[in-house]
Amino acid sequence: MRTPKNILVTGGAGFIGSNFIRYILKKSEFDGTIVNVDKLTYAGNPLNLVDIEEEYGNKRYFFEKIDICDYEKIKETFKRYSIDTVTHFAAESHVDRSIFGPRDFVDTNITGTFNLLEAARECWVGREDVLFHHVSTDEVYGSLGEKGYFYEKTAYDPHSPYAASKASSDHLVKAYYHTYGIPITISNCSNNYGPYQFPEKVIPLMIINMMEEKPLPVYGDGKNIRDWLFVEDHCNAVWLILKKGKSGETYNIGGDNEWQNIRLVELLCERMDVIKNKKKGYYQKHITFVKDRPGHDRRYAINCDKIKSELKWKPMVGFKDGIDTTIYWYTNNNKWIEDIKSGIYRKWIELNYGKREVSLK
Ligand code: NAD
Ligand code: DAU
Repeated sequence: MRTPKNILVTGGAGFIGSNFIRYILKKSEFDGTIVNVDKLTYAGNPLNLVDIEEEYGNKRYFFEKIDICDYEKIKETFKRYSIDTVTHFAAESHVDRSIFGPRDFVDTNITGTFNLLEAARECWVGREDVLFHHVSTDEVYGSLGEKGYFYEKTAYDPHSPYAASKASSDHLVKAYYHTYGIPITISNCSNNYGPYQFPEKVIPLMIINMMEEKPLPVYGDGKNIRDWLFVEDHCNAVWLILKKGKSGETYNIGGDNEWQNIRLVELLCERMDVIKNKKKGYYQKHITFVKDRPGHDRRYAINCDKIKSELKWKPMVGFKDGIDTTIYWYTNNNKWIEDIKSGIYRKWIELNYGKREVSLK
């Protein structure tokens, strides 16, 4: 069993990273330090962590606005905070954006990961008490037909530029384990949902469109299938891997919770009808079928028996409870949504971090 002390969390201002930081500071037995390294792209929002900044800022929580493509700054951060554990979330994460502009995906997801591995190689010489955990996706395995599951040993077959860039980074992480002996673990997780998810992803997008009485755009025939997991269950899985994961191993994480997109959107509509006191069927009439995503993977389904049996993990949040929690969170956090839409939070970032450089020495 490992006891992480100084954890470098990359991408901690994004959706899963911010939930993870809150989770381990508030809900786990962790008593060490977290350094959140984030470039603050459009998806990185330091307002996701204002409560954490207030309670733990500059005591057990430190924020550094750094691009993981900047090797020198990454290396200095490793040294300055005596990092013994990396939890690497930072990525360009949205499939549609990767189709229209793949360059940032190659830069951040591949070169950024490479830089972090190089820093680990330089700073962790001869150390066995360290761990580089790479957070990846089930999309590296490609697309399934009506039957079957992705296993840890399923051959990689990525289809979108996003999936290809994540697959590439997974291979680099494995190569550093085999070639240089860097202690690593990888997790490949299915679709997450929950609070603080940037509203380009399907669940928050649909909730916000309903709040604004806008059309609900379902791609293609709506029969593509995704396996949904509440974000806190993912955070718990990653925390267990940091403590008990075996170096060199991959762990699949999923919710055993497959939904066709159209059924998912109908469920969201039904719950919104109830929560907003509307007549049954009120929101459903906003559903609109639109042009499909190019190369749209048909079905993802994860077999996660390994993490269940080896690390005693299981998803704790039932889907309908998780969906209600998520809808309540978005409907009660209008200011968070407005800040994103108006771009005010970008100005806030500029004011607070814009000209700040990390002091390296
Ligand atoms: P997100 O887009 O919400 O957040 C990504 C974060 O990374 C942002 O804070 C952004 O500012 C930061 N970032 C981007 N480029 C950077 C760079 N060059 N340097 C430093 N920081 C940078 O993403 P998410 O949904 O929270 O996903 C986090 C990780 O989990 C990703 O690696 C993703 O591939 C993986 N993942 C996501 C899901 C999901 O359903 N969202 C499922 C499985 C795996
Ligand atoms: O499977 C894990 C992956 O899940 C993560 O690695 C990615 O980072 C994350 O973005 C997510 O990828 P998806 O492409 O599955 O998520 P997205 O929310 O974009 O879309 C989910 C499904 O909904 C997908 O089949 C496309 C569909 N969709 C999406 C949007 C945005 C729609 O029908 N309409 C939409 O407007």
